[in-house]
Amino acid sequence: MDATDLSPQHPAAGVPVLSVQGLVKRFGAVTALDDVSLEIHEGDVLGVVGDNGAGKSTFLSLLSGYLQPDEGSFRYRGKPVRMSSPAQTRQALGIEMVYQDLAMAPDLTVWQNLFLGAELGRYGMLRRPLMRRRARDVLARMKTKIEPDWPVSELSGGERQLVAVARGLLFDRDIILLDEPTANVSAAKSDDVLDTILDLHARGKTVVLISHRLEDVLAVCTRIAIFVNGRLEHVLDNTDIKVADLVHLMFGGSPATSTG
Ligand SMILES: Nc1ncnc2c1ncn2[C@@H]1O[C@H](COP(=O)(O)OP(=O)(O)OP(=O)(O)O)[C@@H](O)[C@H]1O
Ligand SMILES: [Mg+2]
Repeated sequence: MDATDLSPQHPAAGVPVLSVQGLVKRFGAVTALDDVSLEIHEGDVLGVVGDNGAGKSTFLSLLSGYLQPDEGSFRYRGKPVRMSSPAQTRQALGIEMVYQDLAMAPDLTVWQNLFLGAELGRYGMLRRPLMRRRARDVLARMKTKIEPDWPVSELSGGERQLVAVARGLLFDRDIILLDEPTANVSAAKSDDVLDTILDLHARGKTVVLISHRLEDVLAVCTRIAIFVNGRLEHVLDNTDIKVADLVHLMFGGSPATSTG
C-alpha cells in the first residue's frame, strides 16, 4: 500500500455526483454512523468495507433514503438535497439500492418480483409481455439461467440475491447501491455479479458496493471506504492495495506512512 490515504475527501476535479457531510445516525444508545463525510464521483465504483456492525448498511440506507439521518446533509451534483424515501431518490436522483435483507414476494414469479411496485402499464393495463421480456433481457445480461416465470419460492438464497441485483439493473439507474450482492452466491455466480459491476462501470454508472469479500472489492472498485465502529476512517484509491492492508485498516490499524 502506498501513502495515498485520501480520507475523507477526494481531490479529483469536478463536482461529485453525490456527497455527504457530517452524517450521524443513532439507534437508541448505539451510534451506528458518526460524522461521516464523503464525496462520490460519477463513474466511481466505491467499495465499502468494515467489520460486522461497522455501519456500512446504515450508510447505504441513508444514501437511498430508506433511513433518515439524525444529523448531516446530502448534495447531488453540488445541490443540497434530501433523501426522503427510496421512491424519491429513485425518481429524482436515479438511485437504486439492492438491500442486504432481501424482501421478496415468494408466491410471485421472478418477473413479477422484478417489477413489484414499479409495474409497467398503459391505458390502465399491465404490460405483462413487455415486463417478461425486460426481465429476460436483464437476467441474460447477468448470464444467469434464472427464468422470468420461475416462482421465487423455488429459488435458492443465492438465486434470490441475483434477482435482487437484477432489479437494481432493470431500470438502468445512474447510481446503484449494492449491499453484499455476493454474500450467499456461489463462486461462479459471484463472478457474474462482478462482471455486471464492471459492465456498469464501463457504461459510466456510479456504483457503491458493500462486500465482506475483499478480493472482490479489490477486483472491481476504483476507491475503497473503510468504516470502523461507525466512523469513516479511510478512503483509498484502489492502487497497489492488498487484502492484508484492508484487514489491517478495518480493524483499526493505521495506514503506512511511507511507501511499502
Ligand atoms: N434498525 C436498527 N435498530 C437498532 N440498531 C441498529 C439497526 N440497524 C443497525 N443497527 C446497529 O447499528 C450498527 C451498524 O449496523 P449496520 O447494519 O450498519 O452494520 P454493517 O456494517 O452493515 O454490518 P454487517 O457487516 O454485519 O452487515 C450496529 O451496531 C447495529 O447493531
Ligand atoms: Mg450490513
